[in-house]
Amino acid sequence: MCGIIGCVGGQEASEILIEGLRRLEYRGYDSAGVAIIDNGIVQIQKVKGKIADLQKILNKLRLKGTIGIGHTRWATHGRPSELNAHPHHSKDITVVHNGIIENYRVLVPILKKKGYVCKSETDSEIICHLIQMYLDQGLKMEKAFPKALCQVRGSYALAVLYEKEPHRIYVAKNASPLVVGKGQGENFVASDIPAILNQTRTILILEDQEWGFLEKDNIRIFNLKGQPIRRSLKTIQWSLATTEKDGFRHFMLKEIYEQPMAVQNTLSGRLGNGHQRIDLPELEPLFPRKKNPFERIYIVACGTSYHAGMVGKYMMESMARIPVIVDLASEFRYRQPVLDSRCLMVVISQSGETADTLAVVQMARQKKAKIVSICNVMDSSIPRISEATLYTHAGPEIGVASTKAFTAQLVVLSLFSLFLGDLTKNLNRKDVISAIESLSKIPSQMKKILRPDAVYQRIARKYAHCPSLLYFARGINAPIALEGALKLKEISYIHAEGYAAGELKHGPIALIDEGVPVVVLIPQDEHYDKTYSNIEEVQTRGADLIALATQGDKLIPKIAKETIFIPKTQWFLSPLLFSIPIQLMAYYMADYKGTDVDQPRNLAKSVTVE
Ligand code: G6P
Repeated sequence: MCGIIGCVGGQEASEILIEGLRRLEYRGYDSAGVAIIDNGIVQIQKVKGKIADLQKILNKLRLKGTIGIGHTRWATHGRPSELNAHPHHSKDITVVHNGIIENYRVLVPILKKKGYVCKSETDSEIICHLIQMYLDQGLKMEKAFPKALCQVRGSYALAVLYEKEPHRIYVAKNASPLVVGKGQGENFVASDIPAILNQTRTILILEDQEWGFLEKDNIRIFNLKGQPIRRSLKTIQWSLATTEKDGFRHFMLKEIYEQPMAVQNTLSGRLGNGHQRIDLPELEPLFPRKKNPFERIYIVACGTSYHAGMVGKYMMESMARIPVIVDLASEFRYRQPVLDSRCLMVVISQSGETADTLAVVQMARQKKAKIVSICNVMDSSIPRISEATLYTHAGPEIGVASTKAFTAQLVVLSLFSLFLGDLTKNLNRKDVISAIESLSKIPSQMKKILRPDAVYQRIARKYAHCPSLLYFARGINAPIALEGALKLKEISYIHAEGYAAGELKHGPIALIDEGVPVVVLIPQDEHYDKTYSNIEEVQTRGADLIALATQGDKLIPKIAKETIFIPKTQWFLSPLLFSIPIQLMAYYMADYKGTDVDQPRNLAKSVTVE
């Protein structure tokens, strides 16, 4: 999704902006641009395509200005093009915007009548014309800016340059993330903290419906009524782990290989008393006197995080015997869910910024439900408004297709379920200790699966030309079949469907024909015989079976074209291990096809608009 960066102060803006844009690149974008005030004049440069192209232009221009704003655009309104790229400009005002202005269609003709004509197809451009219109009516910028903000409906994070005040960046936020960084004789603004963490660790987080301005030595924030806001600065303690590829062809492959470490880090400090107990102190205030006050649990998320939530339901219901409802944030927020203080809302989001998930948290707060978020990005918007956050410690995830954050989410969900099982006395001490023992083995078992293996390259060569693949599994691995299909679609653009195996007869079996590739996840668990019957059903109809089976299984290799063996673990942990081959399969298929694995077309890492 769109990313914003801005700086005002001592250093040359062009370098800081390009570096910041690179750090925002992972969010996904199709065009990029900057505006720098050089010798009192706003210089705008934009490209459709890559930041490297923008950098080439800036290198030639050698702008010396120390104040500027930059933007990576992920198209929502208006196709990807140089014209639609930000910054947008109206006489004295230059704007970069992340969000959606929902009433722009109403505003465009009103502005046009007054002589302010939008040149692009974007919703964003109206913002600069609106501000300019109020300036032309004689208002000072400090009145014109908030007045314009009051006219727009929707979400916005904004950084604005006003040519007549060439020492200031104006900023504003509503329902899209924006943070301000305080430096020494310089200040910054960005969509997220990592984008400026190389410049400063002192951060001020803007809240909705706030605006302000940054100067070299001054930061001022106001509400829309113009009242000043006093907000304490935050010092960011966490560090930015390396965001290099470390010799891997793609970030995604590197992140797949980082999973043993991500699991280890996510477990770290949470297995207490010499691995006898689950320690989640973050949750204690929600469970006073170690009792469960909740009648039911909602798990809400989007995309891959939603699939983690589906796995979480199997774990929590079985271990804690509390009813769990899992839903997509984009659906949940527009239903009439039965929510009150007896509900525990668990939201899962790698980025902590997904617009729909964030909206669900706001809605749940109004209904007095208690919120536990499971997030990877520290201090992002969702953790900031949750009662408690269980962080996954997967490290920065750059590949758009989520891998290590997903398995780290599964680890947190298993810890959470064991915690609840212990609390509700549905699990005894022996169960918890044996679960912890199995959990501790996961990193080394993952390493065994991650051994370089020609099987994925062979599968890619054989099946990457196929128009469609089918994935199926039962029980707790059914969501992993869905995740396998999603991974493949996202990065290889091959159509794929994931199904709970029991549903095959209700439709998808009609797709099976000679040579259709079918991926089946069949651990040796209580569903083994039933899934085996499903395998026979598709195999007799000519499917090419790619099976993920438990190490030592003798039957599966006889019936499958390809078998990938997975080490044995307890039932609730098998999704952690079965996830890895489905990620690798998608990766090698995509790499074989030569797609842009880390930044697949049309997708964004952090979806900050609806
Ligand atoms: C986007 C990403 C997915 C991610 C989803 C939810 O679609 O491309 O990888 O699963 O958003 O993101 P979140 O940050 O909320 O987990």
